[in-house]
Amino acid sequence: MSDVNVITVIGAGTMGSGIAITAAMAGVEVCQVDVDQAQLDRAKAYHAKTLSRNVEKERMTPAEADEATARICYCTDHARAGDSAFAIEAATENEALKKTIFGQMVDTYSDDCVLATNTSSISITSIGDSVEAARDRVIGMHFFNPVPVMKLVEVIVSPATSDDVKARTIALSERMGKTPIAANDFPGFVSNRVLMPMINEAFHAWNDGVADPESIDGIMKLGCAFPMGPLRLADLIGLDVCRDIMLVLHEGLGHPEKYAPCTKLVELVEAGHLGNKTGRGVYDYS
Ligand code: CAA
Repeated sequence: MSDVNVITVIGAGTMGSGIAITAAMAGVEVCQVDVDQAQLDRAKAYHAKTLSRNVEKERMTPAEADEATARICYCTDHARAGDSAFAIEAATENEALKKTIFGQMVDTYSDDCVLATNTSSISITSIGDSVEAARDRVIGMHFFNPVPVMKLVEVIVSPATSDDVKARTIALSERMGKTPIAANDFPGFVSNRVLMPMINEAFHAWNDGVADPESIDGIMKLGCAFPMGPLRLADLIGLDVCRDIMLVLHEGLGHPEKYAPCTKLVELVEAGHLGNKTGRGVYDYS
């Protein structure tokens, strides 16, 4: 198994841009693809900020930061796709969209390229089935936000994923300084099967008047030693993402009482208050 030298990251939102800078800092060349130039510009600014923070903290030299910057190219198409041994899709959490992108990936990348998805909850088997001839190369590579900081990659295989593709995914995760842990292909895998109902319950507690958001978060931070409370974390993840993951759990596991997204969460999403990325969610960041 040879070292991966060039990867493509499709989607330059919070997760895609985090994956790209983490790979570049680990010495991997990255083609950061997004159809939206403004999103690419935001990713570039985030990369510059993350690198200058690392220089400031003396975790890397200015020359190393420059080298990492030079490893990333920003493209609105798959210009360098032919070189990529590994492609990671990190687009919006929407099954139909992901399947369309996977169809493009199969048409564009080499027959040996690993086709990974950063989905937080959508079935890897279902995405694989949509590109039947390539389904042995489809795998879940689930990073956590903020990607440069969080140590885990949840690796999800479908029954069709080859052992070689799993081994290459584990090797790349480790090269990026992450700890890969495997889970099976169930709705929400492990992380969001456990995390999201807790976040959803925090919205119910707020909605029922059990306490205000600051108190809910304060109780969970101090009482359970969480780095941030569940409502603050929901803002960081994105309220739209939280709602979408609850819908996947709801549709995939049944139990509407248990998994339906709380109306309070749905209302905020419908009002366009999506959390940190829009400047307002449960909290106002303006
Ligand atoms: N990008 C890069 N670095 C970041 C960052 C970001 N977006 N946010 C914070 N950091 C860095 C800071 O620069 C800081 O680095 P230094 O060591 O250089 O100071 C470090 O992280 C700590 O940050 P802060 O001092 O600002 O604040 P903090 O100590 O409260 O830590 C936190 C912030 C790391 C986000 C911490 O609160 C935390 O771990 N929160 C929980 C995050 C979590 O649970 N993530 C998983 C979400 S679930 C998910 O992503 C998967 C899914 O499918 C939904």
